[in-house]
Amino acid sequence: MSISEIPELPAIGFGTADLAGPADRLVLEAIRAGHRLIDTARVYGSEDGVGQAVERAEEEGVVRREELFLETKLAPDRHGYHEALQDFEEALNRMCTDYLDMFMLHWPVARGSEENYREKNIGAWQALAELKRKGRVRHIGVCNFLERHLLQLTDAGLPMPEVNQLELHPGFQQRGLVRFCRERGMVIEAWSPMGRGILKTPEFEAMAASYGKDVGQLALRWSIQKGFVPLTRSSDPAHIAHNLEIFDFEIGPQDTEKLDALNTNTDHQDIWSYKRQQMY
Ligand SMILES: NC(=O)c1ccc[n+]([C@@H]2O[C@H](COP(=O)([O-])OP(=O)(O)OC[C@H]3O[C@@H](n4cnc5c(N)ncnc54)[C@H](OP(=O)(O)O)[C@@H]3O)[C@@H](O)[C@H]2O)c1
Repeated sequence: MSISEIPELPAIGFGTADLAGPADRLVLEAIRAGHRLIDTARVYGSEDGVGQAVERAEEEGVVRREELFLETKLAPDRHGYHEALQDFEEALNRMCTDYLDMFMLHWPVARGSEENYREKNIGAWQALAELKRKGRVRHIGVCNFLERHLLQLTDAGLPMPEVNQLELHPGFQQRGLVRFCRERGMVIEAWSPMGRGILKTPEFEAMAASYGKDVGQLALRWSIQKGFVPLTRSSDPAHIAHNLEIFDFEIGPQDTEKLDALNTNTDHQDIWSYKRQQMY
């Protein structure tokens, strides 16, 4: 099923941040459970584990490569035209595939490139647009790009990214940025959809239970109803399976209001990637 303007993009994805060691086992578990969108990145160290899991799942007859949507991200310190092309080939090798479903820029401003990040982003984005024109990658996107970072690309005569992958959950809704992206036809993927446990309170546990669900499923359903494509991560086989069971209920208007009211618009100011992104 798909809710986005990229018809083959599944409605929910399995993320692999912090899963470098067990990525092969957990991604295989996720594919067996029914996940079809797998999100990785060079910096997670999980690309090779994803590749191994896909090979194994194909051998087992669980899935064919073309039924999966594999996305990975250019390392932030590899922005630039030539670096992006080289990184793309390396990612294909690590992931044991000859094409990607989506290749993304991971952050707009890398450490050490504060002074020339615009030029580096433009170079990298030129490379991604070229890879798409040549059919090496099906879709191209960005992560964590604010309005000005997106406009820097289009002001250089380059296409608007198809997707922006953003931190989004009830506690951090980035409504203005989401509106801006939607007005330009972008699909929104939501990272950290669980909101770092923001719903683990008696009130929201009771709300989830009223639908016969847990708070993780409630958080994912909220994301789906906002029209996002949530990417969730889990090392727990039960959670991996449960996180797909979110299409058989609807959060009602009053509960949606309560969840929406959790918005603080406070991001991770203690994380240096965020500070850089806000400053430049
Ligand atoms: N583009 C970017 O800059 C960026 C940044 C961060 C993340 N991401 C991507 O987005 C993915 C998701 O973000 P995230 O890793 O922060 O994921 P998340 O799904 O919001 O949070 C993961 C945590 O939620 C727990 N969890 C999962 N399912 C649950 C459930 N049903 N009930 C209760 N707890 C549950 C997991 O614990 P258990 O293991 O016990 O289930 C884990 O501790 C990442 O893996 C990565 O692929 C992208």
